Amino acid sequence: MEKLKRLLNSFESPRILDVGTGTGAFIGMIKQMYDGYEQIVGIDLLERAITAAKENFKEDERIEFKVMDINKMEYDENYFDIVILSNTLHHLSDVKKTMEQMEKYVKTGGIILINEMLSNDLNKAQLSHKYVHHFAAEVDRTFGDFHKDTFTNIEILQTLKDTSTFQIKDAWDFQGSSHNEPTDELIEFFQKTLDRLIAKSKEEDKKYFEKKAVKIIKHIKTHGFESATPLVVVLAR
Ligand SMILES: C[S@@+](CC[C@H](N)C(=O)[O-])C[C@H]1O[C@@H](n2cnc3c(N)ncnc32)[C@H](O)[C@@H]1O
Repeated sequence: MEKLKRLLNSFESPRILDVGTGTGAFIGMIKQMYDGYEQIVGIDLLERAITAAKENFKEDERIEFKVMDINKMEYDENYFDIVILSNTLHHLSDVKKTMEQMEKYVKTGGIILINEMLSNDLNKAQLSHKYVHHFAAEVDRTFGDFHKDTFTNIEILQTLKDTSTFQIKDAWDFQGSSHNEPTDELIEFFQKTLDRLIAKSKEEDKKYFEKKAVKIIKHIKTHGFESATPLVVVLAR
């Protein structure tokens, strides 16, 4: 947290682009630690995510959201100080193309900031997060949506080396997730989450996902839940 805060503070009134913003979770985290930005633009493919993001940040007129595909984005080049990709790397079907696009919008002296949840070195409570995430990704894939399982730190760093013309300047594990005990409330929340995903799945897959969900709930009941550690990577020219 402190390291990210220091990094943000090293920019003077930065313009920030958040690619694959979803409902703006990463912007919310930035806002908790830093208020010195001039502008934040969040983009996402999904209209429903952008509608929710607009609602979440409606009180801050420096923040705007657009339904937009980064690979088709048309914006002023060399415009942003910080271009963020948070928990979205495993959603990209063509990482090289997306990295090229993101690089275009970074102005001289600017950075790309990757934040990506890890699949390695997780404690048992964090494995609950990984299992729920991989469950959702598998359901998405049965519909042909591009949604990979999460990567290890080595895979993330190698992917970035292979696809970006920027250099990796720094990388660290973003510690700070809190542990949730397996209370009835927590179990009910995840049961409902998995049930929603099963309801969304194809008829012929339901039995398979139901069996899998039982195992995941058993794991959460035993170990609780904690967010998987994200890896933060800073890239620059
Ligand atoms: C798991 S969410 C990440 C949300 C948020 N950034 C976070 O850290 O929690 C990944 C998002 O990336 C979006 N996405 C995937 N490909 C995209 C693209 N080409 N352009 C814009 N958004 C994209 C998806 O629609 C999805 O909402």
